Amino acid sequence: MSRFSINTECFDIPVPGSPFDLGSPRRAALGNGAPAHAPAPAPAPPLAIVSKLAHWDEKASVRVKPRRILMRDEEAQGKTFFTPELVPVASHPLVARLGPEAARQLEVKTLYRYLDFTTRLELDAISPVAADIALGRAGPELPDVMRQDAFKLCTDEAHHAYFSDDMKRQVAEATGIAEDGPTTPRFLRRLRAIRRDLPRAERRLALGLFSVVSETLISGILCQVPRDERVVTSVREMVADHAEDEGRHSAFFSQFFGYLWPRLGNSLRAELGPLLPEFILAFLEPDTAPIRRSLRGLPLQPDEVETILAESHPPAQFTAGAREAATVTLHLFERHGVMDDPRLADAFREHGLRD
Ligand SMILES: [Fe+2]
Ligand SMILES: [Fe+2]
Repeated sequence: MSRFSINTECFDIPVPGSPFDLGSPRRAALGNGAPAHAPAPAPAPPLAIVSKLAHWDEKASVRVKPRRILMRDEEAQGKTFFTPELVPVASHPLVARLGPEAARQLEVKTLYRYLDFTTRLELDAISPVAADIALGRAGPELPDVMRQDAFKLCTDEAHHAYFSDDMKRQVAEATGIAEDGPTTPRFLRRLRAIRRDLPRAERRLALGLFSVVSETLISGILCQVPRDERVVTSVREMVADHAEDEGRHSAFFSQFFGYLWPRLGNSLRAELGPLLPEFILAFLEPDTAPIRRSLRGLPLQPDEVETILAESHPPAQFTAGAREAATVTLHLFERHGVMDDPRLADAFREHGLRD
């Protein structure tokens, strides 16, 4: 394969001499069938790429932060393992009447799920994309500085996966609370289903767009847990370490999207653009199946479990929260003209992410 081909195992668009599309017979055919209302192809803007991880050696948690060690006496002093407002089922009256141990179990299991979510996100979704960028498989024009940043990103994400797993082990040992059993997080189930429906050649590219979405969303957990003094110190510090790294990753992936989107061509933008709001929701929607499983481990009737779930996760509240969490991501898409295509703007509207 020439230096200017894109590895079909990776971003999967076999185009000699040009990134992601442009000129291949298959793409040309797709382009002819693009919707009539799709905007005319705009020339890709000149690249003005700068490193977003320039001071990585002095700032990255893997370089400068210590291992976070759980202090066992903090729980006895009244600290919790997770921000209570982020575990709404734990404060539901039907759970509260079971006593404080029920809420404790639900909070610890929510922490486990968050840590598992993080580990799977880093290793199953972000790292493969970062590796493609680092190895120059995401386009021949990709500036070298972006490739160099991507090596740092790979390192960060592996570290985040490690320290999440490490914290889960420490908390399990200290509390004696076992996990409910292995599950695949909802975002990954959804991502797999979406990618299965795509032509094989577009699946890696879809993963690249999912990474842009997930790395630019600002989750409530990253914002709230570090500031919450009710939470045990090591968990707060670990989430703060992660949030600091992710601030830099957000800048990197915003820049990457600015490189990628204009180079996709009309047909790919029309095909993959409607997935962007789906990716936002896939990432943010509550994963009710494992919460139900945790609730079923408590002395509750099946109908009580469903009542707790329904009343703790009202859909209207979710939509408002999703729009807030996606503010940066939606601005990024607007800045790069995603919403200029009426079909894509409609897709965001249909998903409740736009008025
Ligand atoms: Fe991360
Ligand atoms: Fe990241």
